[in-house]
Amino acid sequence: MTREQAKKRIAALSGELEEHNYRYYVLAEPSVSDFEFDKMMEELILLEKKYPEFLSPQSPSLRVGGTVTREFKTVKHKYPMLSLSNSYSEDDVRDFDERVRKSLSEKPEYVCELKYDGFAIGLTYAQGELLRAVTRGDGEKGDDVTANVKTIRSIPLRLKGRGYPDEFEIRGEIYMPRKVFEAINREREEIGDALLANPRNAAAGTMKQQDSAEVARRRLDCFLYFLLGEDLPYDEHVKNMLKSKEWGFRINPHMKICRSLEEVMKYLVYWDKARHELDYDTDGVVIKVNSYKQQQQLGFTAKSPRWAIAYKFKAAQAVTLLESISYQVGRTGAITPVANLKPVQLAGTTVKRASLHNADIIEKLDVRIGDTVFVEKGGEIIPKIVGVDLKKRPSDSRKSHYISKCPECGATLVRRDDEAQHFCPNDTGCAPQIVGKMEHFTHRRAMNIESLGSETILQFFEAGLLKNAADIYDLKKNDILKLERFKEKSAQNVMDGIEASRSAPFERVLFALGIRHVGETTAKKLAWHFREIDALMIANEMQLLDVGDIGEVIAKSVVDHFSSKDNLEMVRRLKKHGLNFKLSDEVLKGRTDKLAGMTFVVSGVFANFSRDGIKAEIEKNGGKSTGSVSKKTSYLLAGDEAGPEKLRKAESLGVKVIGEEEFRKLIR
Ligand code: IVH
Repeated sequence: MTREQAKKRIAALSGELEEHNYRYYVLAEPSVSDFEFDKMMEELILLEKKYPEFLSPQSPSLRVGGTVTREFKTVKHKYPMLSLSNSYSEDDVRDFDERVRKSLSEKPEYVCELKYDGFAIGLTYAQGELLRAVTRGDGEKGDDVTANVKTIRSIPLRLKGRGYPDEFEIRGEIYMPRKVFEAINREREEIGDALLANPRNAAAGTMKQQDSAEVARRRLDCFLYFLLGEDLPYDEHVKNMLKSKEWGFRINPHMKICRSLEEVMKYLVYWDKARHELDYDTDGVVIKVNSYKQQQQLGFTAKSPRWAIAYKFKAAQAVTLLESISYQVGRTGAITPVANLKPVQLAGTTVKRASLHNADIIEKLDVRIGDTVFVEKGGEIIPKIVGVDLKKRPSDSRKSHYISKCPECGATLVRRDDEAQHFCPNDTGCAPQIVGKMEHFTHRRAMNIESLGSETILQFFEAGLLKNAADIYDLKKNDILKLERFKEKSAQNVMDGIEASRSAPFERVLFALGIRHVGETTAKKLAWHFREIDALMIANEMQLLDVGDIGEVIAKSVVDHFSSKDNLEMVRRLKKHGLNFKLSDEVLKGRTDKLAGMTFVVSGVFANFSRDGIKAEIEKNGGKSTGSVSKKTSYLLAGDEAGPEKLRKAESLGVKVIGEEEFRKLIR
């Protein structure tokens, strides 16, 4: 392929991929299979790597992320990013309508929109291309999060159609769909990480990530709701919104023109209930005056426009009786207090249980068995108790005391200084922890033993056949046949599943061990870095911190794990059973020794590699990458916006600084 042909092909692929993106993520009408899409994307990425001069800042390949922003640049908003005044009752809305009418000579037309509960963003487009994405910040200045925003697939990088101003801003709300939020929390639960509180916090936390590849994995989405600029096509909000839909923006379908206050009220009442069916959180309705001329007449107060108001939904609340408090023990030993309630209807579902989170919350609410409690379903998926009706408290009620012993095994609970939750430390003798660990071990993404599901594990555990994961490989078909429900075929099925799992690669075995805070991705990184379990088992915290993206919490957790005799014994037994505890030769094949003995510090942003990618490349070629420049550093590998502190240190210690091109020469 000539350079000219490559340029054309890159342009053609980019256009096609963006069109498919638009159809899939904005219109929800996919036009090609995922497979075809991935193939085109792969081809584009390869071509852009080969011809970096044709990589455009609007390339759809940026959707997969990989850019690392060390520090977000502060940018001044061209138009201040104001918020809205809030109203909490229908009366407040009536007052708003009255104020509006009094100030206007003509009757207003309102637009009602849902108020999405996420993270406000301002997108600037110039000549039809996304130039910049900035957070609200303090309203005057915000953070430039363009690289992260480019991974949100429904946000157009290049506009469609025509008639857009040369330069304009469009504002909207970035949010995390509930389905994504739930999936992330399921995963966090599996690896024993603290759960994300609600989709709003999750979206905000994601936007502040430095690695845009991580943002891409979080599958955020966005609704746009406000157009700003000098030459907008119409002088009405709704018309401009519909026009911007033609340019490729995702506009919420539930926006509605209301010609009277009554219609506004109907919208509020309808969405107060219907919002629970949506796949995103909303916390109210925004009511705007449609005409720009009228908006201008109404003007602004110091903080917010007089032409709009936010009506906040009351969180759905119910009143019921707290019958008892029970305590659940998770795989990691974490204790979760649960309120058992007299069943009550709340936002369309029957609620029987509510989360009480931890001992501090119980103390703060002073919630007691027999109390009449207020239960709310807010942004969180699980309902929570928000208060007690003290007037209804029985006179003989007694203060709740948090348990001090594990409800499952009787061990004395512990609470580490920095954690809100209590833990049962008896990880090798407490039933839900043992069974939970085995469930994790056999999980599809770990050893993938489908024939050993939760129920079977529990049955085997209760029958005394399994006490830990290593016992799985000692199971005998004859022992299984003695159990209820098992016949020749089903017992053989279990044995076959176990046998097949022996070929699981090292990184999956490592994930299966269930080291706290070590999820799939971390397991992969550790496997690649240390190559075999023996090296990992003797690594100290410093050595672990040298692995890209491993922080103190994970490093400490790994060291703790392998300082336990039981865990060492587990590895010894699993090794004896032939599980893979080192990277296979096949995986190691692509490796070289070109960088053997060299230590790199990586800093900044690179054109052809993500930061993880370049570190993986160093390791693949026998080198090491560490976090800070010292006398031992061979090279500081510096990309754009490399840390000035690192550059200074390298200079003072005489460490050579190289760029991406020189690095490529080293490994060529
Ligand atoms: S319009 C001049 N429309 O709620 C203000 N805002 O406190 C224009 N929000 O800052 C904002 N959904 O972050 C508007 N449909 C919607 C919205 C919305 C959510 C957020 C936004 C805004 C805040 C108001």
